[in-house]
Order: sequence, then C-alpha cells, then structure tokens
Amino acid sequence: MDQIVNVNEFQELARQALPKMYYDFYSGGAEDQHTLKENMEAFSRIMFRPRVLVDVTKIDMSTRILGYPLSAPIMIAPTGSHGLAHPEGETATAKAAAACNTIMIVSSMSSCTLEEVASSCNAVRFFQLYVFERRDVSAQVVRRAERAGYKAIVLTVDVPKLGRREADIKNKMIAPKLRNFEGLFSTKVKPSDGSGVEALASRALDASLNWKDIEWLRSITKLPILIKGILTREDALKAVEAGVDGIIVSNHGGRQLDYSPATITVLEEVVHVVKGRIPVLLDGGVRRGTDVFKALALGAKAVLIGRPVVYGLAAKGGDGVMKVIEMLKNEFELTLALSGCATIGDITRNHVKTEDERLK
Ligand code: FNR
Repeated sequence: MDQIVNVNEFQELARQALPKMYYDFYSGGAEDQHTLKENMEAFSRIMFRPRVLVDVTKIDMSTRILGYPLSAPIMIAPTGSHGLAHPEGETATAKAAAACNTIMIVSSMSSCTLEEVASSCNAVRFFQLYVFERRDVSAQVVRRAERAGYKAIVLTVDVPKLGRREADIKNKMIAPKLRNFEGLFSTKVKPSDGSGVEALASRALDASLNWKDIEWLRSITKLPILIKGILTREDALKAVEAGVDGIIVSNHGGRQLDYSPATITVLEEVVHVVKGRIPVLLDGGVRRGTDVFKALALGAKAVLIGRPVVYGLAAKGGDGVMKVIEMLKNEFELTLALSGCATIGDITRNHVKTEDERLK
C-alpha cells in the first residue's frame, strides 16, 4: 500500500480486483459520460492565487457540519452496494470513517443493513434516502435510521428515474440485494435484457416526488434534512424556502443526466443565493486535496467523495478507504500551507481564479 501515492491510483487497483460487471457499475456514468469526465476536468481549469509569507507551521483542517466535528472537510458520499466491493461491505467503510474522524453518509441501497453499519463503529453517520412509491416503506426506514442513531437524512432528489448507464445495460448488471428493505417489500426483479439496477429502480422509486414532499419528510422525522442533487440557483432557493438544513451540490457523479454541468462550475451560483443560511456541500470529481481547497474557496463547507472510497474498499478493504481519506487530507493540508492558509477559515474567494475570470 505504501507504493500508492495518490487517490487516482486506486481506480486501476479496483479494476484489477473486481469482476468487470462490478467495476463498470462503480466507475460508469450516464450515456456519453460527458458529465462524469467534466466533473474532474472542471477542477483542473481552476488555478490558484497562492499567498506567501504566512506562518503555516500549524495547520488546522478541522471543521463542523451540522455541529458535528470532522478532522477535515472531506466526507464519504453515499454509494450503494459496498458488498460488491468487499465482503465486509459498509461496515468496513464505516470503521474507516470513524478512524479518520469523518462523517459517512450511508446509502439506502447499502449491502449491510443500516443497523449493522450503526453497530459496527461510532462514526457519525447520516442516512441517504431514496423515496419509494411505497411511502410506508420509506417512512419505516427513516424511523429505523433515527432509532439507530443516524444524525441527518440526506434526501437524494436527482433520481426520479435511473440515468441510462450503458455499461450496466450491456453487462446485464445484476440487481444488488437491498438488505434495508428485506421483509418490507419484494426487491426481486425478473431477469431482464438490460440493467438489473435499472429494473429495480423503476420498480421502487417514486417519480412523483416533489417539493411538497419535504413537508412529508419533515412530518416523519425530527432529524435535519439535507437535499442532495441541486445544480441551480432556482432550486437552491426553493430548498432554502422549504426549510431544509443543508444542500449538496451534486450531479450524482455523472450517473444521472448527462451534460449536466460539472458541480464545481455551479457551486458559486448556489452559494450566492443561499447566502450562508444553510451549509452548502459539493460532490463530484474530487480526487485531490487541491480540489477540496478549490471547492471551499468557491463557498462549499465540505466535499464528499464517492468513487475513490469504493475503489479503496475494493482494492484494500477498510485500510484502502482509510488510505484514500488520509491521502486527500494530507494533500489538502499541503495545499493550505502552499497557498498561505493556516486554517480553513483563512481560505478566501481570492485564493482561486476560475476559467471565466481568466478569460475576462
Ligand atoms: C453513487 N451515488 C449515490 N448517491 C446517492 O444519493 N445514493 C446512492 O445510493 C448512490 N449510489 C452510488 C453508487 C455508485 C457506485 C456511485 C459511483 C455513486 C452518487 C454519489 O453519492 C456521489 O454523488 C458521486 O459518487 C460523487 O462523485 P464521485 O466522487 O464519484 O466523482
């Protein structure tokens, strides 16, 4: 593991470790995969305006999200079916999150039950919710998450229907087991000619989900609610008006609507209308400590990482996940030092220059 020097190297190790069907499921995006690539490329078009002669002997990367402390502004995004990557599934990821003092957002579609993840470690966990047509089932799962000590509900809003992931269609990707819903409703899908994930999603998901349903969610839980999947100022404003407790700027890692903008390019328009009333987080394409810094300079409170975590898990189990997070933290720490910031509070908008600004 000492030979691995950056997060990107885990992708190839995961490819070697996994059956093609699973690797493609984790790595793939929708249709032309334009957004998938853009998420990363857009970061590379942002440059630094580093400041010098600042005392950076002591760097403090710590922060708080909804009052919960994190060692650095890097959290674990919800990704489904960790059991396909490693036999210990989400419990291994959660232990790594605890060891790194970060927050894990556990997917509704986890391979381990939400209770198993909860009892495996004392990491701060949020629960990601997909709302099903069977609202009673979704309500039960939310209550279970509350009982199991999850600290927030992350409502994913960019999947009224599953995006067209062509690799999964070609591979006839199996429908993963949804352990959280065992006994609640049948998650069995007929073997089909296409993606089993798509078949499962179209059976379960409620495409009628709309802004009024935030009230419904509020009525069934006391937990803070974050909305994941906002990409415009219009929806950011609606989210604030709906009274949610946080926004995650996300295009689902390029797995939903292809040609959605790279998240880092729309972060600022969201931040501007939110005006600090609630925290704005971002995911999509974060692979370097410099990316974390860029997101914070443009107004994010923290970032989430998706694929690197599953690649780490597939390649090296929980140790791989820890290594991914630690490498990102170390790179972020160095970025702070080299740009003249001793704490994340020292990061300003003037520390970066976007492509638009450079072209002006
Ligand atoms: C996801 N994502 C996701 N999001 C969500 O809200 N619920 C889920 O169950 C999943 N499942 C999932 C599986 C896999 C394999 C991937 C790659 C992604 C989206 C995820 O939370 C996040 O938005 C992106 O992964 C972020 O982009 P990066 O870091 O993968 O580039």
